Amino acid sequence: MARPLVLAIWGTEALAEAVADAVGGDAVALKTKLFPDGESYVRLPCAVDGRPVALAARLHWPNAKIMPLLFAADAARELGADGVGLITPYLPYMRQDARFAAGEAITSATFARLVSGAFDWLVTVDPHLHRHAALSEIYAIPALACEAAPVVGAWISAQIESPIVIGPDAESRQWASAVAKAAGAPFVTLAKSRHGDTAVDIAFPDMSAWSGRTPVLVDDIISSGTTMEVALRELSRLGFSGAVVVGVHGILAVTGDVEKRLMAAGAARIVVTTTVRGPLSRINVDGIVAEAAARFLASEPRRSS
Ligand code: R5P
Repeated sequence: MARPLVLAIWGTEALAEAVADAVGGDAVALKTKLFPDGESYVRLPCAVDGRPVALAARLHWPNAKIMPLLFAADAARELGADGVGLITPYLPYMRQDARFAAGEAITSATFARLVSGAFDWLVTVDPHLHRHAALSEIYAIPALACEAAPVVGAWISAQIESPIVIGPDAESRQWASAVAKAAGAPFVTLAKSRHGDTAVDIAFPDMSAWSGRTPVLVDDIISSGTTMEVALRELSRLGFSGAVVVGVHGILAVTGDVEKRLMAAGAARIVVTTTVRGPLSRINVDGIVAEAAARFLASEPRRSS
């Protein structure tokens, strides 16, 4: 088999190296730029003919990234790559997974069709599966969801004395329960109602059994930070202190300083994984992503061009 090639784009150099090391291939940065009119230029930095290829991309804040991503995948295929995969530790456009109001686009399904048309396989970490039970419901290509829970649970177990893991809403149960199991800790989930992008209510169950434990709020995504902020304020009101906030995907998307807001609401510590790289990325999940991607690259599911 020709040497696999991993093309890094948008801050994935270390991840691309890890994948290349795992499969005995090469990692090279993809060349992109914007023309003065806002259109994208993309150049593959080396020959891809006959080689299994993967694009390793960080796709949070995705809109400006989609066109160059599709151009790169198409160019690789056209230039003879032996299959083209996508490695995106954070999979965007998973939260609009239903039509909540008449006429709304179900962007999770549309985005999945777009990616499935351009790539042969996909590797990601903890996609936001709520109303879609599995990626295979919307992705037409082999799509592997790596689980961060074992690594996150190990971090909690090593770093936090007597934790109680708390999932802030019903859909967080899948992550919170797996993390709690890996940490050897109990867990509870809360009930959240969302009224808008930055407006939520959260109801707690009776927490008296857990007084004296360190609350560890665990969610898949921290975006505007509203969910965590409301949960933190209620925890303080209930008399808990020293709360730790753990997110798999630390998007922290909204203007303004989400970290400061969460600290002001009672967080003692905020930690996220490396799926979205930033100053709070203290839990490294590159290894599990690299291992999964290497498996695909070593036995590339191919399609004819
Ligand atoms: C909800 O469906 C997700 O699991 C997260 O709870 C949500 O995305 C967090 O968003 P935000 O930080 O904006 O409250």
